Amino acid sequence: MARLYRAQRLTYAGKTLRFVRPFSDFAFQTYSDIWDDTRQAGFATPKQYVVQTAARVIGRCILMASDPGDLVLDPACGSGTTAYVAEQWGRRWITVDTSRVALALARARIMGARYPSYLLADSTEGKNKEAEVSGAEPVNTASFRDIRHGFVYERVPHITLRDIAHNAEIDVIWEKFHAILEPLREQLNAEVGQTWREWEIPREADDGWAEEAQALHRQWTKTTS
Ligand SMILES: C[S@@+](CC[C@H](N)C(=O)[O-])C[C@H]1O[C@@H](n2cnc3c(N)ncnc32)[C@H](O)[C@@H]1O
Repeated sequence: MARLYRAQRLTYAGKTLRFVRPFSDFAFQTYSDIWDDTRQAGFATPKQYVVQTAARVIGRCILMASDPGDLVLDPACGSGTTAYVAEQWGRRWITVDTSRVALALARARIMGARYPSYLLADSTEGKNKEAEVSGAEPVNTASFRDIRHGFVYERVPHITLRDIAHNAEIDVIWEKFHAILEPLREQLNAEVGQTWREWEIPREADDGWAEEAQALHRQWTKTTS
């Protein structure tokens, strides 16, 4: 509990103690069978074709039903969302339309698309990258650049309450900053005639404070931010 406090992970709501957990602690969520993410993404994307499907919808279908290197067929191309998304996820594709307008739009869209670049898992550079992001030893087996083995994906951290509570480095960091902050707190209290504990020091300095108190508060804010 002391470490959680030192790591500024404790707060309160009324009389209830709460844990501060930023989204970045674990910026990951498994897809559920409610596709509410597609609605939001669909509205946000400008359409090039009046009946264009949201890329997120096609993306979910492709990810569910195929693997990298598979062939995806869409016989109702429209502005080419299926081909565009298939390309993004390392799938091959064929798409068909009776309308020349649709095909012209699709061609321009696919030719002009830009995608993030991924390393193949079945490649020397991919194996080295995988070792780097996973913290494991690199695998030194032969590589065939077979796309079916997929790609090297980014990792997100997964920080739990337990990780913070067991992280002794927090104590070292806290001691270091405490040695700087404690004299500041005492001087500020003396200047403004208060007995504030560190969590009670206001975020904003009072305009009526003397310049010395303002300077101490600026220093406090800079060190704690
Ligand atoms: C709803 S749109 C597809 C939209 C597409 N998913 C997109 O994101 O743009 C249907 C498309 O199918 C095409 N189409 C209709 N009948 C067809 C047929 N018999 N053969 C091939 N394409 C056809 C239309 O020209 C139209 O572009």
